[in-house]
Parts: sequence; C-alpha cells; structure tokens
Amino acid sequence: MARTKLVAGNWKMHGDSAANQALLDGIKAGAAASKATLAVCVPFPYLAQARAALSGTTIAWGAQDVSRHAQGAYTGEVGAAMLNDFGCRYAIVGHSERRSYHGETDEVVAAKSDAAIKAGLIPIICVGETLAEREGNITGQVITRQLDAVIACIGAAGLAKSVVAYEPVWAIGTGKTASPEQAQEVHALIRARVAAVDANVAAGLQILYGGSMKPNNAKELMAQPDIDGGLIGGAALVPADFLAIGAAA
Ligand code: G3P
Repeated sequence: MARTKLVAGNWKMHGDSAANQALLDGIKAGAAASKATLAVCVPFPYLAQARAALSGTTIAWGAQDVSRHAQGAYTGEVGAAMLNDFGCRYAIVGHSERRSYHGETDEVVAAKSDAAIKAGLIPIICVGETLAEREGNITGQVITRQLDAVIACIGAAGLAKSVVAYEPVWAIGTGKTASPEQAQEVHALIRARVAAVDANVAAGLQILYGGSMKPNNAKELMAQPDIDGGLIGGAALVPADFLAIGAAA
C-alpha cells in the first residue's frame, strides 16, 4: 500500500500570538512546494489562531496532548471533543516529555489514543527509548512494550486511524539524530509488530521519525522504506527549515 508522507511540527511550549502569526504566514507562503502533508501542533491557547490562519489551506493543525477523559471534573484537562471543536486533525500523545515530566504511563498513553480516535482525531502516538535503554540494548523491548499497550487498548482498528512517531529520547533537542539505519531498524520493528496483528493496517501505517530532524538530514531519513515523515521540534519554529523538510519528503 502506498503511504503518503506527513511532516508535523511540534511547537512545544514556544510562541506568542505575534510570533505564531509570522510562523503560520511563513509556512503558508511556502506550503505549495511541500511533497508531504504539513501539520502544526500548537499549544492549546493558540488553536483558534491556527484554525483562523490555516482554514482553507492544505496545512492541518492539532494539539500536543489530549485528556484520556471525554469530559467532566478534570481541572486543567482538554478533551478530544474540544480539540475537534477547533478543527484539529491531530493530537500528539505520549511524547517523551509528557511521559517523563508528567508521569504518563504506557496505559495512559493508550487511553489518550483511544479518546482521540473516539472523537475523530488522529493521534500521533510517540514511542522511544532513552539513551540508557539504547546503551543497555533494550531498545526493541522498550518500543515493543510501549506499542503493545496501545495495541491492547485500541487494536488494529484503532491503529488504522493513528500515526506512530518513533522519537529516540536521546535525539530530541540534542542535535544528535539517529542514523537513517538506526531509525529504519526501529521503524521496521514497529511495522512488524503491527503486522503481527494486522498486515494491512501495518502496510498503511504512517510511522514518523522525530529527534533533531533538520533540513540537512531529512531527505536521507525519509528515504528509508519505513520512515513516512517527521515529527519536528526545533526546526518547526523556523518556516524555511520546516518547509525545507516538507520539500525533502
Ligand atoms: O516532537 C518533536 C521532537 O520531540 C523532536 O524535537 O527539537 O529534536 O526536533 P527536535
């Protein structure tokens, strides 16, 4: 099955109204040259701004997290239906910064993926190992554990409506990118694990790479057979860089 490429920006906790507007305008101005679908995942307060700027364009927008609860007395949480209300297509779930700073377990990540899908959003489900785990030769075990929790919760049918992102923790914001071979190896493992449940879903699953993807390494990474795009942090804050990654897809 032919898979299209997706390049999604994760703005993390950066920006303000003025800076965002410049970023959104810059991305819009060059989006036509992108070979990949482009998306931006912005902080919650700026979802309305993203919607206003991007409605009617080919660029999608989304959030960086979502509650596992549908609605109710959950102070500070933002539900999937609310994201839908703001026209989001995507919600990142299980980013390593959420897992490590907010104690999100594999089960919480799985439940968030489920909540997103039930509201019609596409979760971008992040998995990845730490440096200690890689050096301890347990990368495969860690990725499998993270993925299996998601599979147990949403099954192949849920994965058919999801995107997976492989983000080695040691490569995030460090300038140390996984080599194309290292990334491909894990992407192939993810696809094989899903194929064991449903070969068709595995064949169609978009698996993004994230971790210091930049204009100078994007092409080689995305040329790997199982790398279907990127989840971009730092370079997503610079229109020219983000667009260059989209053009390299
Ligand atoms: O979600 C994207 C991310 O964690 C990668 O960040 O800055 O290394 O591209 P960065």
